[in-house]
Amino acid sequence: MNIETIKWIDPTPKIKQPILRLIDQTKLPSELKFIDCVDVEMVAESIEVLRVRGAPAIGVAAAYGVALGAWNALGRKSFSSIIKSDIQRLANTRPTAVNLFWALNIMQQVIEKGADNDESVADDLLTMAHKICAEDHAVCRRIGKHGANLLSDGNTVLTHCNAGGLATGGYGTALGIIYSATEQGKKVHVFADETRPLLQGSRLTAWELLQNGVDVTLICDNMAATVMRGQSIDCVIVGADRVAANGDVANKIGTYGLAVLAKEHGIPFYVAAPISTIDFKLSSGEEIPIEERASEEVSVGNMGLTAPENVKIFNPAFDVTPHYLVDAIITEHGVAKPAFSETLGALNEMPKQRATDF
Ligand code: MRU
Repeated sequence: MNIETIKWIDPTPKIKQPILRLIDQTKLPSELKFIDCVDVEMVAESIEVLRVRGAPAIGVAAAYGVALGAWNALGRKSFSSIIKSDIQRLANTRPTAVNLFWALNIMQQVIEKGADNDESVADDLLTMAHKICAEDHAVCRRIGKHGANLLSDGNTVLTHCNAGGLATGGYGTALGIIYSATEQGKKVHVFADETRPLLQGSRLTAWELLQNGVDVTLICDNMAATVMRGQSIDCVIVGADRVAANGDVANKIGTYGLAVLAKEHGIPFYVAAPISTIDFKLSSGEEIPIEERASEEVSVGNMGLTAPENVKIFNPAFDVTPHYLVDAIITEHGVAKPAFSETLGALNEMPKQRATDF
């Protein structure tokens, strides 16, 4: 991805305030527009309405949000309590992607380290946000390399939602694997599920893959079974919002159905995710909080109402794929295979050397 999904812009003599510039993903693919966030509320709103979305990108944006809030709070007596409520506001935006809480926790630790004065705290928070962003990029590259080893020249991959550069600090997890395989000279064809109701697959994945010259075919979600039976899919690769210690995977709604279909058709089902997406505190996916979103996301489309106004609607944004349907979890430290409770734990024990480690 040449386009920066999330970019921090330092103050200039003309614009006396730092800016967190985000691609406004709600406008894609019709227009490539940016939103310039100048305070925590703008960052929080952008996460809530999915201007910035995808687990790693939410974490990066939230980290910069804290840094932005600290800058805005400089010179105020209540500096510490403002940052505390900023962190709380950001934590309340979306419940499922654990990267949000992972990043906010790191920012909290920077504050607790207790620099001498407010300016130094604000500087340290910005330095850490930059580290989280840069590291996300590097981690995605490593996931890409590990995952690309599972692909051969001429393979066809099915993916769901958007786990690309738009969903991360850059490059992507599931799509990072496609980019890495392509960089190795392998030709890979991708089928992208449109991903109802918010169409991250058609609006974002198809757009992003085309931008990067990847051969992509868009399908509606209900076509996946037919494509798996007739189009020689070599594997399914998806991202994740939270993975429990036993390998249960929360990802965009529809992922579970794809995993069931993949099993039926004998197609390997791979999940690409950084270690920061694995929530070792949760023993199974049953404990993962699943976000429910507004009914209008289902009942209102571009052509107006797509359902009777008074119909009951169930709109979970994510589902949980049980670990026994997952063939491998591809992380920056390597590829974990079942039994995940052992293999994920072992990957987590590996020397981290992460700039964000305390
Ligand atoms: O609701 P979204 O668009 O934030 O959901 C995103 C996903 O489900 C992605 O697959 C996941 O966050 C992984 S992104 C690398």
